[in-house]
Amino acid sequence: MKPSFKPGVLLLCLALVAAAGCAHRAPAVAADAPAPEAHIVPLPRSIQTHPGELRLSAVAVEGGNAAPMAARALAELLATLRLATAEAATPVRLQRVDDAALGEEGYRLEVGGAIELSARTDTGLLYAVQSLRQLLPAQAAPEYRLPRMTITDVPAYRWRGVSLDVARSFLPIEYLEKHIDRMALFKLNRLHLHLTDDQGWRIEIRRHPQLVQVGGASAVAGGRAGYYTQEQLKRLVAYAQARGVTVVPEIDMPGHVQAALASYNELACRDVANLSPYSGVEVGFSVLCLDKPDVVYPFVRDVLEEVAAIFPSTEIHIGGDEIRHPLYADFVGRAAAMVDAMGRTPILWEEGSVADLKPGALLQLWNDGYAIDAAVARGHALILSPCSYLYIDHGNYAGQPGADWCRAGGVPLARVYAFDPTPFRTAVGVEAALWTEFVHGEAAADERLWPRLAAVAEVAWSPAGQRGYDGFVRRMGALRPQLDALGVQYHAEPDLGWADAKDAR
Ligand code: ACM
Repeated sequence: MKPSFKPGVLLLCLALVAAAGCAHRAPAVAADAPAPEAHIVPLPRSIQTHPGELRLSAVAVEGGNAAPMAARALAELLATLRLATAEAATPVRLQRVDDAALGEEGYRLEVGGAIELSARTDTGLLYAVQSLRQLLPAQAAPEYRLPRMTITDVPAYRWRGVSLDVARSFLPIEYLEKHIDRMALFKLNRLHLHLTDDQGWRIEIRRHPQLVQVGGASAVAGGRAGYYTQEQLKRLVAYAQARGVTVVPEIDMPGHVQAALASYNELACRDVANLSPYSGVEVGFSVLCLDKPDVVYPFVRDVLEEVAAIFPSTEIHIGGDEIRHPLYADFVGRAAAMVDAMGRTPILWEEGSVADLKPGALLQLWNDGYAIDAAVARGHALILSPCSYLYIDHGNYAGQPGADWCRAGGVPLARVYAFDPTPFRTAVGVEAALWTEFVHGEAAADERLWPRLAAVAEVAWSPAGQRGYDGFVRRMGALRPQLDALGVQYHAEPDLGWADAKDAR
């Protein structure tokens, strides 16, 4: 069925578009061209297409008051596409519905005579807007065409994350904001910041100012130094929250602490000779002096209290990786108990599973074959980051310079996509990790993150039995203009047909 022709609306829109000076931005749509296919990543649970299409040249938004996040994202989309709002135009309705099947994050998107977005929550409606955004072009055009359809969608996992190591090499707040915008397009919802490590301490702690004065001034060789003030981090948290992203802080302890030891020498044991800032890439040599509990635990408490005051996230990551020490399990238990006492949930890298933790503590798996079954049997939920699938500091292709300790052949897009979380029955989701020993700066980060994060998003959102690489390649291949519009300096992935002129960069 053809939609009815509304000459008044068309004229109004043409006038608005001409006034905005954008009518030349895209070729006019041939009247008999087929309506575009639905290219959505991550793959929605169900898409039913109906005969006909909706032609859009101006819209009337209804219901935004009940969904501020979604309304903001929709307004941004309309502004980008220079889609005028006019009372008599095609309605775009945001509505909160009491449909338990949609859960906390699901949504329905119906394109008929109007565009109806329904969800139980603002978050669900935000995701409906992101799907609508992917159905539309990335650039302004004189007119838009959508196939009539009903999408019903819910995520498989609640944790759809990426971790950025800003400790080895610093990434400025402006980059993190851009990164959050890009995550939001693909319904990724956890940004884990690895804020401290041997090479740098990136978070202002007011009770211990030298952490950033000394620890913030170092970086891995070739990387960037720097740190975030508490005010900057609070603004980042708010920016992320408005886009459906939770920022999860990590303070890595009791190892990976050379930057802290260089800042406050008393945190080290007396026999430690080297208390200088560190710019190498070896791991596992530094440790808080666990034989000095009167020094170490007040420090840890101070840091965690200030971290908790900045980040409202339910979870706080306290590291716990790559250190052997007789008092390791005791430390992890005590640090995790501090997080619990603050009303938050501790996350530990998998090694923390040896400690006496409350079953609510989350464990983050990073070695593919790590023996985690006993911890799962004790009730621990898992965040899945097996390095051979999800450590995207590794190459986009075999032989790309950089980290290769986990998988010599790199972690190509198809490999990321092949990860199946379903055998892990307590998994809350998946998280890719970008370590920055060899990834310095924004262009390098972009090139490692994209398009692989789109595959991560689909692994986390779309049930394994429903998705497939061929379909992903077709849909993601078509979304390249969306990444271009966001200024992403992505890897020109040959599987997606992107290995053209951009490859030269
Ligand atoms: C890790 O890669 N050391 C968590």
